Formats: sequence, C-alpha cells, structure tokens
Amino acid sequence: MHVTPRLSILIACALLTACENSQTPAPVNRSADSQYPNPMDVIYALPPEAQPYGLDVYTAHCASCHGVLGQGTDGHPALRGLTAAAMMQRLKDYRAGSIQGERATAMTQAVAGLNDAELAAVSRYAGE
Ligand code: HEC
Repeated sequence: MHVTPRLSILIACALLTACENSQTPAPVNRSADSQYPNPMDVIYALPPEAQPYGLDVYTAHCASCHGVLGQGTDGHPALRGLTAAAMMQRLKDYRAGSIQGERATAMTQAVAGLNDAELAAVSRYAGE
C-alpha cells in the first residue's frame, strides 16, 4: 500500500492518541477526596519504567500486617473505607510522624523507607 506523508502523519497521531488513552487511569471516585492530591498524578509524573507497581509494594511492605487482601490481622486494622487519595495522605502523615500513638509507630516504620511514588502506587492498589 502506498502511504502518503500526510496519511502517515494522521496514522501517527491516531496511534499516539491511542497510547495516551491507554495511560489514562481508571476513574476514581474523587468526590469525597478532592482535597487530597491524586496518587495517579504522582505516578504519571514518572516515566513508565520508573512507575512502581502497587501490588509489589503492598506484598513487600504491607501484607505481613494487613493481610494479603487488606483484611487485617491480629492487632492490625483492615484497610477499608479510604479512597486512594485519602490513603496516600494518611501514609504520608505516618511517614512524617504526624500521626502519633503507640500503634502508629509500626506504621511510621513500615512506610519510612518508601518514596512518594511508592506510597501513591500502594494507595492506588489498596485504596477503594
Ligand atoms: C508492622 C505492621 C504494619 C505494617 C508492615 C504496615 N502497617 Fe499499616 N497499620 C498498622 C497498624 C498497627 C495500624 C494502626 C495504627 C494506628 O492506630 O494509628 C496501621 C494503620 C494503617 C492505616 C490507617 C488505617 C485507617 O483506617 O486509618 C493505613 C491506611 C495503613 N496502615 C496502610 C498500610 C500500608 C499501605 C502499608 C504498607 C506500605 C502498611 N500499612 C504497613 C500496622 C502495619
């Protein structure tokens, strides 16, 4: 098939648009948490190969206490009722040490070594 330069530009544009769409995050119910930054903004600020995968972060750093399904284990709460954005904010608060209390120390330590993108990814995975 003979492809004119003009047509090939059109095809390239269509492909680019398709790729961009595949990067669009699934809709998140943000009605309750528009006050918090969107975790996907943190993740998409990075090149694809540098974007952490939430399940990996969760498995390595959270499942031992909160259970593989976030159902909670003895003494560790189930993870429910937090949107992804609200959870990311909560995790940043733990990391900053601004949530205090005997039980909060475990959380502060659990997230101490995680960067913003890892917190965003795990919140997107474990948040509702
Ligand atoms: C060593 C055990 C432990 C690990 C590991 C751990 N947590 Fe926690 N987590 C807790 C405990 C205990 C609390 C309750 C803290 C409190 O009462 O302030 C908690 C609280 C939380 C809360 C607040 C729940 C709420 O409704 O306010 C969130 C969200 C959370 N954890 C997410 C995570 C995520 C995500 C990870 C992995 C990055 C993680 N936790 C790792 C023990 C742990």
